[in-house]
Amino acid sequence: MGRKQRCKRNRKKCKSLKVHPKYIGQRFRLFSKFEQGISLSDPESWYSVLPEKIASHVASRCRCDIIVDPFAGAGGSCIQLATTCTYVIAIENVYTRLLDAKHNAEIYDVANKIDFILGDAFQIFPSFIGKVDVMFIAPPWGGPNYENGDFFNFGRFQYGLSEIVDTFLQVTDNLAISLPRSSSPRQIASTIPEGRIFEVEYNYLNDKCKTITVYLGSLVKPLVSSSVVQQTDSMVDTQRENREQYPSQD
Ligand SMILES: C[S@@+](CC[C@H](N)C(=O)[O-])C[C@H]1O[C@@H](n2cnc3c(N)ncnc32)[C@H](O)[C@@H]1O
Repeated sequence: MGRKQRCKRNRKKCKSLKVHPKYIGQRFRLFSKFEQGISLSDPESWYSVLPEKIASHVASRCRCDIIVDPFAGAGGSCIQLATTCTYVIAIENVYTRLLDAKHNAEIYDVANKIDFILGDAFQIFPSFIGKVDVMFIAPPWGGPNYENGDFFNFGRFQYGLSEIVDTFLQVTDNLAISLPRSSSPRQIASTIPEGRIFEVEYNYLNDKCKTITVYLGSLVKPLVSSSVVQQTDSMVDTQRENREQYPSQD
């Protein structure tokens, strides 16, 4: 099929799926190999996939042996994680999205590094406790409308951020959590258990902040220092500063 024909087919698909045309315009930002047959079978997949450059950056920070992507969607994140990690476990509770993720991973030639599991991440997570190095967590935060307020309100969705952090910290200390760009730094800070160091990263594409990633455990970049002892001190200071800057709302 020629390029023109493919574009026409994509535009038609977008219309039939009721996806805003801006997403089709951004399709190569989502997947650089979009024209090779990437499949996004429903509107939510279009607006929830992590843009490839951000996914690739986060994957470079999550480099490890075994990683779990408990909210895999149509595969934007797990495909990039498979390029930096030895083995990826991708969980998704919508069958068609899991099929898309597998199909899309085949296009990127990484499907053989990913185990695709259909199920509820909140039910399955106990089987991974102590057995994986890192979790990359990108839960559904409610689609494009979450951006309407000044700050994203975690409380509006099925799982609060606290619940997500508490649940997956049982599996591993090393979490990367993808949040909407409008998330309040104060709220993020108030959900991280006392005593844990964390890092908040703003992910920009073309001068526009697209998402926020929160890192915990060994994924937090150490501060530059001249000795290990000083490094530990300064990391504790960072935590204290974070808490002072964004005190808990309780
Ligand atoms: C934000 S999307 C993930 C996008 C993905 N990271 C990507 O880059 O393509 C969140 C996904 O989590 C799935 N999901 C929601 N609740 C879930 C659950 N309890 N267990 C597993 N998957 C779930 C949704 O169906 C949705 O596809």
